[in-house]
Amino acid sequence: MSGKKFNIAVAGATGAVGNQMITCLEERNFPVKSIKFLASSRSAGRKLRFRGDLVEVEELTENSFKGVDIALFSAGGGTSVKFAPFAAKDGCVVIDNSSAWRMDPDVPLVVPEVNPHAVAQYTNKGIIANPNCSTIQMVVPLNPIHKKCGIKRIVVSTYQAVSGTGKKAIDELFDQTKAMINFIDYKINVYPHRIAFNCLPHIDVFLENGYTKEEMKMVDETRKIMEDDTMGVTATTVRVPVYFSHSESINIETREHISADEVKSLLENEPGIKVVDDPKKNIYPLAIDAAGQDLTFVGRIRNDESIPNGINMWVVADNIRKGAATNTVQIAEILAENYL
Ligand code: A2P
Repeated sequence: MSGKKFNIAVAGATGAVGNQMITCLEERNFPVKSIKFLASSRSAGRKLRFRGDLVEVEELTENSFKGVDIALFSAGGGTSVKFAPFAAKDGCVVIDNSSAWRMDPDVPLVVPEVNPHAVAQYTNKGIIANPNCSTIQMVVPLNPIHKKCGIKRIVVSTYQAVSGTGKKAIDELFDQTKAMINFIDYKINVYPHRIAFNCLPHIDVFLENGYTKEEMKMVDETRKIMEDDTMGVTATTVRVPVYFSHSESINIETREHISADEVKSLLENEPGIKVVDDPKKNIYPLAIDAAGQDLTFVGRIRNDESIPNGINMWVVADNIRKGAATNTVQIAEILAENYL
């Protein structure tokens, strides 16, 4: 780092991801000159800690960004659509965790391990988008394979933690589980069905083509980040009763042959990845082990014996950290080091 320090704002600071963004800024020792915490009027006046100091939460308004260099947004799509342009107008670079700007051709969509060069396009609109959590942890291990032997098609099924829906969903899983084991009535508020002791093949809204929006995010964002519109991607996204970390079963078909052993050694040498793959000893990636970590864990790497060039793998990462907050702060680091 150059030694320069930056004025930072966190929009959605009181939320599950916003909170973790604050922790990541602290843990990664981001060069912060000043920090502003923004949320809805409901939270104005609340105090949150940053590096030992209490900082008062302010209501997010059109005028919140004067003098701010970088704003990390995680306050929902509607809030990003409304307020990111005001931030950009005031010369602040927005790194947005919502889906609002991801597919805008003028907005770079960045996973630092995959396409750090795309950060340079922040000048178009003053906005950089952080991809969907499920997409991030998929492209991290797939990009090195794509570069080596070309991925023709991806078939992915996800097992996604409730924290991806926010604090209310974390509480709902806890309350329903408690009610169930005490044989009392449970309430359903956040999801259309009970999430405790259940799996819901439904994340975000259903679209005309029968897929959910979450599934199509994985399709479109993967192609944009890996810069290959010809890649076939099909996804089934499922919410499971897990608090933190998404798990994914990923099947790929490559253009050139690569063996499971070659994939293992390739991924063992990649930054941001930990291969955890010794099934005979019951060792494979687990949501409970990935929670709180920044790495993407890959295991169960094996040849797909049903086709000549196929690989299966199981990929797990903390959706709030690598899937959201850590990736956002990593983007801010690239921006701060190279462009501001
Ligand atoms: P608040 O806590 O004041 O509602 P989560 O995804 O965990 O539910 O968090 C959402 C975050 O986005 C919270 O910090 C929330 O603030 C913030 N937020 C939601 N709606 C708005 C809004 N209209 N303006 C500003 N912040 C908002």
